[in-house]
Amino acid sequence: MSCADHSEAMLQIARESLAVNALDCPVERQDIEQLTYADAQFDTIVCFRLFHHFPTQTIRQRAVSELCRVARSQVVISYSSPWSASSIARRLRALFGGRKSQKFTTSLKEVDACFRTQGFRLVKDFARSPFLHTLHVALFERVQ
Ligand SMILES: C[S@@+](CC[C@H](N)C(=O)[O-])C[C@H]1O[C@@H](n2cnc3c(N)ncnc32)[C@H](O)[C@@H]1O
Repeated sequence: MSCADHSEAMLQIARESLAVNALDCPVERQDIEQLTYADAQFDTIVCFRLFHHFPTQTIRQRAVSELCRVARSQVVISYSSPWSASSIARRLRALFGGRKSQKFTTSLKEVDACFRTQGFRLVKDFARSPFLHTLHVALFERVQ
């Protein structure tokens, strides 16, 4: 197991949390667009609560390409759905002059397309309540 994030402050939180739980694993500073890991270094990659920070399709595709490069068989990724009640409310608020959300939403269709170009297929998309909650988690696997 290995943990990574771009922010030193977040890596410190991860180190403290690992220590409290008596776990030991490498914690590394990485940029998801240019990971320093080898091809297929990990069986499974979990990328949690990062995708919604990326404003463009180009960046999202670069991130997914890197995740798929270092994952031998599976990638679990979370993303923010544009079709939940809270995402729709956020767009309406922005439309009527409210603050624009910094949370970038992505449709499952786009997430799936990013993975397909890398030879992965969607196994399952999860959400606690898809029409209420924005956070989705999708599992992709490498097509053999
Ligand atoms: C909402 S936090 C989630 C942190 C953690 N994954 C969690 O679920 O608690 C988003 C994290 O993405 C990290 N991040 C932003 N851009 C990144 C990049 N290009 N590469 C790696 N991490 C990045 C930030 O440093 C931040 O810690």
